[in-house]
Amino acid sequence: MNKIIIVKGLASNKIVQTISIPHSNLKNMSLMDFLRANAITIASSCNGEGTCKKCIVNNELISCQISLENFINDAEVSIVEVAYL
Ligand code: FES
Repeated sequence: MNKIIIVKGLASNKIVQTISIPHSNLKNMSLMDFLRANAITIASSCNGEGTCKKCIVNNELISCQISLENFINDAEVSIVEVAYL
């Protein structure tokens, strides 16, 4: 069974996208890269070096510094909240 990420925009108070994670090899990428690969706009001015903190989701997670695998962990459904969406 595929795992699911629900992307919620806090500014719009809407679910922006529901993304199914089809391939386990995708889990090696960062959460930020995965979201961007699925057309979710994630702000960045350091290109994933972990210094700008513009890519924060869920109020505290630096999405360029966490792997997709660690983020989804054992959950069937994971929620990503983005403040400016
Ligand atoms: S993109 Fe700059 S800290 Fe994540």
